[in-house]
Amino acid sequence: MSTETTASAAASGNAATDRFRQSGKTSAIQADVERVNLLASKLIKAANDIVLEERVSYDEFNALKAWLIKVGEDGEWPLFLDVWLEHSVEEVATDHREGNKGSIEGPYYIPEAPEQKTPATISMREDEQGTPLLFQGQVRSTDGSALSNAKIELWHADEEGFYSQFAPNIPEWNLRGTFIADEEGNFQINTMQPAPYQIPTDGACGQLIAAAGWHAWRPAHLHLKVSAPGHELLTAQLYFPGDAHNDDDIATAVKPELLLEIQPAAEGAGVQTTYDFVLDPEAK
Ligand code: DHB
Ligand code: FE
Repeated sequence: MSTETTASAAASGNAATDRFRQSGKTSAIQADVERVNLLASKLIKAANDIVLEERVSYDEFNALKAWLIKVGEDGEWPLFLDVWLEHSVEEVATDHREGNKGSIEGPYYIPEAPEQKTPATISMREDEQGTPLLFQGQVRSTDGSALSNAKIELWHADEEGFYSQFAPNIPEWNLRGTFIADEEGNFQINTMQPAPYQIPTDGACGQLIAAAGWHAWRPAHLHLKVSAPGHELLTAQLYFPGDAHNDDDIATAVKPELLLEIQPAAEGAGVQTTYDFVLDPEAK
């Protein structure tokens, strides 16, 4: 965890880079010569076509070089790729599904957050700021049968838009948890509504956003991984109605079916929402 006292793009970027290196995601990769030849050739051709079509100058070429170097220095390759490319990879990976298709994982997932049976309250500070949110629903298979003891991993930003383990001075597992649904696949999780989130603005990605006249906002969102034996893992995000950035998410990760319906809490303060997940059986 960072020992710095204020959040910085380089600290969260480098933490996301370390997390990716430790994730094991690269260990299974087998580079197929045909595939590398095809994809690398297409990528290089697309870039060359842009240079020729737009008559890119040496100044612009050098700006690109300097910027790419800075992306690496700031550890922002995970951020860059998750914001501007992952949504298409996710689309390809899940378009066969009958159940929920989901959305991007983003750079801030940490596996093996502390596990609790639901109903449960996510781990949070005693004075955690924000609107209490009861998040409940059911996990089912595509045939409608309940998936007993399904696992729901939930992580999200706090009221200031910061994620634990990627910003300083937040307890390790704050607003992160693994929840086990009951026999009927039902779950009830108490948490705090997250705030809209700006991807770090003081690093290379922020420099690009400012230079291009874009904005850095993602709408407020819950991150989820929902799983059950014999079923495909669902990685999803859920969004809150009325958020100004639901229609222009910097990461292009909002889909209409991922919008929650929010109601006043039936008991106590805050709001509640019900969202059911449908998982596809694994292909035989
Ligand atoms: C980024 C952050 C997120 O919280 C997310 O869901 C996707 C991308 C990012 O900073 O790159
Ligand atoms: Fe996020």
